[in-house]
Amino acid sequence: MEMKEFAPDKNLLQMSQPAFQNATAEVVPRMASRATVPLLLLLGLLLIFLKLSQKKATLPGPSFCLGIGPLISYGRFLWMGIGSASNYYNEKYGGIVRVWIHGEETLIISRSSAVNHVMKKGHYISRFGSKHALQCIGMNENGIIFNNNPSIWKQTRSYFAKALTGPILQRTLAMTVESTRDHLEKLLGGNNNTTKVDVLLFLRAITLDIANRLFLRVPLHEGEIVAKVQKYFDTWQSLLLKPDIFFKFKCMYKKYEKAAQDLQDAVEELLLKKQQELRDTEKLHDITDFATDLIFAQTHGELTPDNVRQSLLEILIAGPDTMSVSIYFMLLLIAQHPEVEKKILEEIQTVTGKREVQNNDLQQLKILENFINESMRYQPVVDITMRKALKDDMIDGFLVKKGTNIILNLGRMHKDDFFLKPYEFSLENFTQSVPHCYFRPFGFGPRSCVGKYVAMVMMKGILVTMLKQFTVHSDNGNNLQNIKYIHHLSFHPNESQTLQMTFIPRNQAED
Ligand code: HEM
Ligand SMILES: *[C@@H]1O[C@H](CO)[C@@H](O)[C@H](O)[C@H]1NC(C)=O
Ligand SMILES: *[C@@H]1O[C@H](CO)[C@@H](O)[C@H](O)[C@H]1NC(C)=O
Ligand SMILES: *[C@@H]1O[C@H](CO)[C@@H](O)[C@H](O)[C@H]1NC(C)=O
Ligand SMILES: *[C@@H]1O[C@H](CO)[C@@H](O)[C@H](O)[C@H]1NC(C)=O
Ligand SMILES: *[C@@H]1O[C@H](CO)[C@@H](O)[C@H](O)[C@H]1NC(C)=O
Repeated sequence: MEMKEFAPDKNLLQMSQPAFQNATAEVVPRMASRATVPLLLLLGLLLIFLKLSQKKATLPGPSFCLGIGPLISYGRFLWMGIGSASNYYNEKYGGIVRVWIHGEETLIISRSSAVNHVMKKGHYISRFGSKHALQCIGMNENGIIFNNNPSIWKQTRSYFAKALTGPILQRTLAMTVESTRDHLEKLLGGNNNTTKVDVLLFLRAITLDIANRLFLRVPLHEGEIVAKVQKYFDTWQSLLLKPDIFFKFKCMYKKYEKAAQDLQDAVEELLLKKQQELRDTEKLHDITDFATDLIFAQTHGELTPDNVRQSLLEILIAGPDTMSVSIYFMLLLIAQHPEVEKKILEEIQTVTGKREVQNNDLQQLKILENFINESMRYQPVVDITMRKALKDDMIDGFLVKKGTNIILNLGRMHKDDFFLKPYEFSLENFTQSVPHCYFRPFGFGPRSCVGKYVAMVMMKGILVTMLKQFTVHSDNGNNLQNIKYIHHLSFHPNESQTLQMTFIPRNQAED
């Protein structure tokens, strides 16, 4: 049954035929004798062949090969995952590769000059992915992350940008410290004993709580929402590149539809609570928040109810999907590198002493920032980002047609282009300043990560607060090298395995 999905679609056939069509349309009427027709056919085939082999000479990548190339490359993305397949192709063909997804030309780019070109220009501000999938998870022309309608995206992005800079950014560190302390206390039940922790779950609860304190501010059941966020992410990742035919069989994607609906319903409920609260308090709060801004925008007819719900959903999932895994990797690295832990801790102690970390400490925590950057470089979580060309363009000397899909392979760029020993984890890599064009963990330009400043502050706040109190050990001999991963929409551990860590209170560890 799956084979049917691989039948070359109309795009592909059209793509391979223009030379043939031109030849027959212009020449046949003038010299149509029976004998010349086969000759012309032969000529046509020759032209197609020449055209295809020319293409091969310009953009590196697997050959079209009568449509088999596109089937194989699409299959590779479906079976290996987007991240793994991207690395496979960049490794095999270099920093710019042409493949096909859904029969559509797709470039995988890891060369920094080309990555920066795409990020900088205004006509790559769209993404790609199955429209059915995006509809199923509510992202089609709603929210921000995979909103492919440029004008709605732009309007929605302004609400995110406002919520993630300025006064909120100033409050982020204090909220992060408060939330991390609360969660540590809850976990330990008032004692400070050595404790086994399901770290990923724990970090998701913290990152969700921080987002709630900053952007929404209504009571919520963390465990319940965290579980729904995880299923929503799995659904997003599983559906994003599925062939259209998959969505014709409701029985096949019913469970995905339910997972998406469950989180949407939960967010709707939170939104209703917030609206009720706004009505009850009458007077405006001294400080506004993201959810309040969205609700007012809806009242004024600027945003649709669907867009408001989806935008709130997306700002709530952004942290739990990215930061929790990133910090987990950082804790594993700290557990594996005691000398690095020692340096970070000395700096924390020098800068903050016995008090909690504050905003004006952040610029002095150089080693910590260096460590965070090196962790994101060495073991990234968000290592690819998907874009679409909205105009014809030249990228590093290659012609790129309007409509071409683009995968920016940032993880690969951070290994291939600048660092001398890319597969070694070393703080030395960031002791001298790295030119920005070689290190883009949050992307760059108009469609970059809108949460990048908040994300850096949150990571620092969580790490400092945890490390001041605890030293961490990984259980079951788990380390970055031996755990099992899923490398698809992001790079994250397969959570079928147990991923516990042990938190040992500092004052006990030192005895
Ligand atoms: C370690 C943490 C994080 C990493 C590594 C990360 C990385 C990224 C990357 C690479 C992109 C794609 C950028 C591009 O296409 O050029 C992105 C997009 C985005 N990120 Fe982050 N991110 C992180 C945390 C966050 C947080 C905490 C938030 C919000 C609170 C956030 C909100 C977003 C949004 C809304 C987008 C989509 C922007 C758009 O399409 O216009 N991210 N992120
Ligand atoms: C944890 O600490 C409390 C009080 O400090 C103590 O009574 C209890 O036995 C400890 N539990 C474990 C498992 O060590
Ligand atoms: C770490 O990365 C961020 C984000 O790219 C950058 O702004 C910052 O300058 C980097 N810090 C160091 C020490 O390299
Ligand atoms: C990165 O770290 C390695 C050690 O693993 C070091 O040799 C190198 O000089 C560092 N910096 C750069 C830019 O490669
Ligand atoms: C995750 O691991 C489990 C158990 O090893 C395995 O059955 C499952 O297929 C893995 N999931 C993915 C997406 O690789
Ligand atoms: C934690 O336990 C150690 C000894 O095990 C003790 O010295 C320290 O005061 C305790 N800290 C708190 C906050 O209870």
